[in-house]
Amino acid sequence: WRQRSELDKLADLPRELDEELTQLDQDFWVSGNKLKEIVSRFREELDEGLSKDGQNIPMNVAWVHNLPTGKEKGTILTLDLGGTNLRVCKVDLHGDEAQGKEKSTLDQEQYTLPEELKTGDAEGLWTFIAEKVETFVEDKGLDKEYSKEQPMPLGFTFSYPATQERIDHAVLQTWTKGFDIKGVEGNDVAQQLRDKLEERGLPIELVCVVNDTVGAMIASAYNDSKTIIGAIFGTGCNAAYMASLSDIRKLDPKDERVTATQTPNQSNSAKDQKMAINCEYGAFDNAHRVLPRTQYDSQIDAESPRPGEQTFEKLSAGLYLGEIFRLILLDLADRNLVFNDDDQDTEKLRTSYAIDTGFLSQIEDDESPSFTSTRTMFRQQLNLNPSDVEIELARRLAEVIAVRGARLCACGVAAICTKEGIKKGHVAADGSVANKHPKFKRRWAKALGRFWGGRRSGGAGGWGGGPIKITSAEDGSGVGCAIIAAMEIGRRGKGGN
Ligand code: GLC
Repeated sequence: WRQRSELDKLADLPRELDEELTQLDQDFWVSGNKLKEIVSRFREELDEGLSKDGQNIPMNVAWVHNLPTGKEKGTILTLDLGGTNLRVCKVDLHGDEAQGKEKSTLDQEQYTLPEELKTGDAEGLWTFIAEKVETFVEDKGLDKEYSKEQPMPLGFTFSYPATQERIDHAVLQTWTKGFDIKGVEGNDVAQQLRDKLEERGLPIELVCVVNDTVGAMIASAYNDSKTIIGAIFGTGCNAAYMASLSDIRKLDPKDERVTATQTPNQSNSAKDQKMAINCEYGAFDNAHRVLPRTQYDSQIDAESPRPGEQTFEKLSAGLYLGEIFRLILLDLADRNLVFNDDDQDTEKLRTSYAIDTGFLSQIEDDESPSFTSTRTMFRQQLNLNPSDVEIELARRLAEVIAVRGARLCACGVAAICTKEGIKKGHVAADGSVANKHPKFKRRWAKALGRFWGGRRSGGAGGWGGGPIKITSAEDGSGVGCAIIAAMEIGRRGKGGN
């Protein structure tokens, strides 16, 4: 690992710890050949998901038929149920009237989701959401501007796997990202939300349910025509792209939900017709065929609300990186290899999910002399006083875990691009890992470069593995969701069903 690591040495590790770390590095390292093996299996699973009886990656049809033209206009209310917050926005889309100014403007409020809600029941969830929507609508005076006859259109970003028969319908397949709310799985979340909004007599019409990846793709394409994929590297890990209709074998090309959406300038060949697919590739390798899983990954899975699900996500997404780090430290502490002085208190370290990915980001970002920031974090968040050796170990571990995450994240995108024959373009990325981890984008690009070669570049043009570059996505769950609602309203106006 000394050759692979980018770190200067702070302290020599005692032999036993050094051996542990060498072993961990081996277990976590995804070699170039392994990357290729993973991508090849990934491609197969993506393809299986598009067939009628696909059982692996869900590949959910999103009922978004085109990328935006950039001319979409209107005022839309949007609701974003993310992992930690609920965000309500009023989005004004200016389209081609923007005349050099911002193409969209936004008025928003954010509310923290109470922890107990995440393991509560449907009633609690929708009541909380409807209450916040009501407050927002009243505070902004929207209840006066809109009426039952002319309701305000609402777009709902729901970032969980859902089966959609139409764009305003979404049956939750399974909760992910640690959520476990009873009475929602197997139900149409659009209807559950609609019922609660109606109870309150709000002048709102739910137009679409959108995944965050689809939102990111559409919001980014509104401004950047090179956008090919919307990807989230955050609490969860997932991507969306525009698939050719002819590849979506679980959809009948004669299905009137598909045919009614063709605009006059589109040819009728199924090859040219597109449909947004929300891959839900966090579920990749649930059958445990290729991913290099460690004992810590198995432990996270076993202790999660849905064991056996989201295998890929549990190795690579933000929700889990800090937890992997914690489990390793705890294991070493239990074997008296770290924090074994009498004055060290490991109680906090024993709390599940006590360490989040921000902790790892900060360790990797720490350039303070002798790592004072890292020491302070350990003291404040974990009540531990690390020695130089323990700081050294923590830095190496943070690196090993995050490097594996970034390299795996590159596999999902490499699989979509190689499967679709996409040779260049922008991967519009959002999420806490993409935005806040200091080294994620560079590592991701380096791994992706394995598939296309080319030199790494960075900065305004985005990080890239050659011709495929990662860029910062525009606001998908607000603006993107609003654009999709506007496209849908336009389509209906033209007689689409
Ligand atoms: C999880 C969800 C998925 C979402 C992703 C990123 O994988 O299942 O719907 O896109 O997290 O938020």
